[in-house]
Amino acid sequence: MTLTTTQKNLLGYSELSDKELLDLDERYGANHYQRLKTIVRKSEGAWLYTQDGRKVLDCLAAYSAANPGHHHPKIVAALVDALQRGFGSVISNVVYTDVMSLFLQKVSTLVPQLGTRFGTDGNKALPKNGGVESVETAIKLLRYYGYKEKGIPDGKQEIIVYDNNFHGRMITVVSFSTTPKYKEGFGPLTPGFKAIPYGDLAATEKMITKNTCGILVEPMQGEGGMYQPPQGFLKGLRELADKYNLLLAFDEIQVGLGRTGKTFCFEHENVVPDAVVLGKAISGGLVPLSVLVTNRSLMDLAFKPGSDGSTYGGYPLACAAGVAALDVLHDEKLAERSATTGKILKEKIEKVAARSSHVKEVRGRGLFIGIEVKSGDAMVYCRKLLDLDMLANDSHGHTIRISPPLVINDDEVNYIVERLEKVLVD
Ligand SMILES: Cc1ncc(COP(=O)(O)O)c(C=O)c1O
Repeated sequence: MTLTTTQKNLLGYSELSDKELLDLDERYGANHYQRLKTIVRKSEGAWLYTQDGRKVLDCLAAYSAANPGHHHPKIVAALVDALQRGFGSVISNVVYTDVMSLFLQKVSTLVPQLGTRFGTDGNKALPKNGGVESVETAIKLLRYYGYKEKGIPDGKQEIIVYDNNFHGRMITVVSFSTTPKYKEGFGPLTPGFKAIPYGDLAATEKMITKNTCGILVEPMQGEGGMYQPPQGFLKGLRELADKYNLLLAFDEIQVGLGRTGKTFCFEHENVVPDAVVLGKAISGGLVPLSVLVTNRSLMDLAFKPGSDGSTYGGYPLACAAGVAALDVLHDEKLAERSATTGKILKEKIEKVAARSSHVKEVRGRGLFIGIEVKSGDAMVYCRKLLDLDMLANDSHGHTIRISPPLVINDDEVNYIVERLEKVLVD
């Protein structure tokens, strides 16, 4: 398509003014987000651009989806290539595509051998679109294992989850959320989940019954307030899973793929689960893609022709992005950069916090840093940060989440610190 001169000079998709756009959204859009009134027309690297010429540093990175930075040129090139050469369109999964097979290989071999007690012949992956779909696929795996291998009557399987968990927004997943507003009025809810305090191994063991088939947990909580579990928790879960023959599934959708300074957050404890779910950054923030990865024999046990499927799950365009995004993660050492930059940024934030009367605690690892505020209302500070051209939002109301693209440089680190200083130090 040849662009007109107006289109070439346009910032963003259309010529609509900000006011017109807000009116359209107000009239036609669901009201399910409490939005900050900034209209982003373009994004590049760690920066967002508005029509009135503002340049805003993105310290949210779409909840870790934009880890490699917005419109990473290599991922964009892979997408353009797929479209221009005619292999990007969705094709039914009833046939094979080369790009999907290559993506499955790449992601299955990126993850360390999962579920070693089930064999060491590698992993397999099952692709979906949004993260929540892969979480539900993991739930199916855990339940099927309980039914088939542990002899739990179908319908009686129980999964242990944790308080303040966040695994997405569909009915089964909100059914075991402990945040009332996520589920109020949306019943009937899905049974079969038991929530206990995050980090509590004794409570986990106490909760295990003959019907427990698995444990689903975030190796570090993102939406729940950016909490790192106590050291030894993940290792303890591994031991319990082995002792009671349960499957252990880690949700790495927000904290995986370099965000916390390791490729996978669970590597901080040197523990491997039986299954892992990935999403968001798996496609570099350009198209939806998510995946369940598990031990080859577990995948083959749980999923047979007809027992799962998805029209767009693993479609060629998404897989082309996935292959390119995993190459960028590796080639540009994003996990290492997150560890190094995150350490520097956290130390600087801690110094700001020490001089602030507003900060309760600074926590996190890599470029996943939470600043809990004493007032409990982090958005007050996030709005002030946005006025200073820095986008951040809250985690669980009380914590300012600092999770920029993993490619930020020293100047951008200082940019963040200067602005935090302005809003947090009186
Ligand atoms: C840990 C975790 N799991 C699952 C999800 C759901 O992913 P999606 O919004 O792509 O469905 C999220 C989203 O924030 C998440 O942080």
